[in-house]
Amino acid sequence: MRITIDEIKAMKQRKEKIPMLTAYDYVTAKIIDEVGVPLILVGDSLGMVMLGYESTIPVTMDDIIHHTKAVARGAKKALIVADMPFMTYHIDISDALYNAARLIQEGGAQAVKPEGGEDIAEVVRRLVDCGIPVMGHMGLTPQSMYQLGGFKVQGKTPETARKLFKDAQILEQAGAFSIVFECVPAPLSKLIAETVSIPIIGIGAGPDCDGQVQVAHDMLGLYTDLVPKHAKQYARLAEEIKNAVTDYVTEVK
Ligand code: KIV
Repeated sequence: MRITIDEIKAMKQRKEKIPMLTAYDYVTAKIIDEVGVPLILVGDSLGMVMLGYESTIPVTMDDIIHHTKAVARGAKKALIVADMPFMTYHIDISDALYNAARLIQEGGAQAVKPEGGEDIAEVVRRLVDCGIPVMGHMGLTPQSMYQLGGFKVQGKTPETARKLFKDAQILEQAGAFSIVFECVPAPLSKLIAETVSIPIIGIGAGPDCDGQVQVAHDMLGLYTDLVPKHAKQYARLAEEIKNAVTDYVTEVK
């Protein structure tokens, strides 16, 4: 049986930390699933680590659906969350519902992740009313990088910290089953995680979140164009691959 959103929420209640990783293809999803990671994210980070774009902004619905299908074939147990790409949930509610439905129906995801706070609360409410589980994403929201002025820590001033706090409560009330906090000061994430009932999954948001998410290509040392400070490398796969390819070339020659 696949993990459900209730099981994810129950992990917070029993203070069991929640690991989450990205996957974009069949093989990686299968490995991550076999290890027992309960949440897999088909993130729009695939635009950077799989497709070579400089940001997540060019990623399309078709890109996410294509990769979500592959992940759904590989991961049989984890709950699969698919990112809603840039501007696929802002134009109007029916557009957001239609696009989220495609991720679930065509892609095979069990939940979707749009970025934002109060501004997307109505979208979250309507998606949840339609039976589509929603994971929020706040703090550094890469789809707004031009507005934010780059990949920067968010919530550092009292006003932005208060807004994050309020936005998290609004998304909880709107029915989100959890929220990703990206690049948020650790004490603020801790306070918010202690206040809301839904799991806060951090990335660069300190150790006291209810769970942690990483881009698999970062923690495996595969994507080396940009190495975020918060991404500990548990392997150096880019180097491993280079060594293997070098050995192969030498043997062939
Ligand atoms: O796209 C992604 O991989 C994400 C994570 C950084 C949370 O949204």
